[in-house]
Amino acid sequence: MEALERGMAKSGIELQDGDILVVSESTVATSEGRVVDLEEVAPGTLAKALAAKYCKDPREMELILQESDEIIGGIPGVVLTLNKGFLYPNAGIDHSNAPHGHVVLFPADPQRSADEIRRKMAGRRRIAVIIGDSRTHPLRLGCVGVALACVGLQPVEDARGQKDLFGRELMITRKAVADNLVSAAQVVMGEGDEGIPAVIIRDAPVPICEVSGEIPTIAPQECMYIGALRCGPRPYTGGYDHLIEKAREAMDNAYAPYSGFRVGAALLCRNGRIFSAGNIENASSGADICAERAAVAKAIASGEHEFEAIAIVGNTTEPISPCGICRQSLIEFGGGILVIMANVKGDVVVASVEDLLPRAFTSKCMGRQDGGQI
Ligand code: THU
Repeated sequence: MEALERGMAKSGIELQDGDILVVSESTVATSEGRVVDLEEVAPGTLAKALAAKYCKDPREMELILQESDEIIGGIPGVVLTLNKGFLYPNAGIDHSNAPHGHVVLFPADPQRSADEIRRKMAGRRRIAVIIGDSRTHPLRLGCVGVALACVGLQPVEDARGQKDLFGRELMITRKAVADNLVSAAQVVMGEGDEGIPAVIIRDAPVPICEVSGEIPTIAPQECMYIGALRCGPRPYTGGYDHLIEKAREAMDNAYAPYSGFRVGAALLCRNGRIFSAGNIENASSGADICAERAAVAKAIASGEHEFEAIAIVGNTTEPISPCGICRQSLIEFGGGILVIMANVKGDVVVASVEDLLPRAFTSKCMGRQDGGQI
C-alpha cells in the first residue's frame, strides 16, 4: 500500500471521486507475504502422484492441493482447480514475478484485501477498488481480465429486462462490469516486467456505490463450459473422434459367433500408429480374447509399447467399459493411457487406466522400476 501511495505521489497522481483503482492480484499477494520458498515444501504421496500425472513440480502440486477445494482435471503443466466457486489454473499459484525458486500464492482473502485497500487509500473520496487477475477463455489465445474481489461498485450488472434493437426482452444477459474494467486496466498493466501494479480508471460510466460483497458465481452444472464438458450428449473426447471411428470399424472384424456381442478397440501409439482389433471368441470361452487385448497384442507384436490412448466401442446402452483383465493388461504399459469408452450411438466417457484400476498390481509392486520386460 505504501509503495502504491509512494508511486502515486512520485508521479503526481492523486485519486479523485469516482475513480476505480484496479490492483493486480500478485501485487496484493506479494505485499501480504504470500511468497513461498519451494525448498520448504514437503510434497505428500498424493501430490507426488498428481505431479507425475500432470508433469508438475511435486512441491508446487502440494501447494495446489492445500490451496484448492477441488482439482477438476489437467493437461501436462497445468491443473484446473476450483476454489470458493472460482476456477483457477494451478490454484492461482504463480511463478511469474516471484524470486527464483519461489512462487506467489493467491491472496488469502481478496475481498478483505479490497476492503482494506479502499479504507486506506480512499480518505474522504468515493472510490472503488478491484483486485484483478487474468485468465484465458476456453479455446481463445491470450488473457483477459477477471475481478477476484471488488468494493465500491456493482460487479455484475443485470441487463435482463432491457430491450434489444428489435424490442425483444433480454433474458439472460448480465454484464461482468468488474471483469471488463480489469480487462481495460490490463491494456496498460501487462503481465511481465512492466512493473505497473495498479491502474486508475477515471471517468468510466460506472457508478460508485457502497457495495462490498463476493463477486457472483454460478454453479458448475449451470456453467455452459463445465456443464457441457461434463455431461453433454456427446462429451468432449479430447479430439479422439478418429480413434473412436477406427474402433467402430474394428467391430466388423470381431469374431463373436458365441455371444454375438461385437466389440472394437483401437490403440493409439505415442508415435501416431494405430492398431485396432475386434474381440476373438472360442468354443472354450476361457480362451476368448477381448478386443482391447487383441489390439494390445497386435501393437506389441509390431514392436510398439508406448501408448497414448485406446478407444473401445460396443453396441451397448451406456459407453462400454473394459473388463478387469483388460484394465490389468493396459496398466502394464502405463497408468496414464487414456481409455475412451464409447458406444455405437455416440456416447463417450473418458478416464485414465489408473482411474479405472486404482491401487493396481504393477511391476513397481515387485520392486521393478523398469516396467518389467522392456
Ligand atoms: N469383450 C470385449 O471384447 N471387451 C470388453 O471390454 C468386454 C467384453 C468381449 C469378450 C467376449 O467376446 C464378449 O465381449 C462377451 O463377453
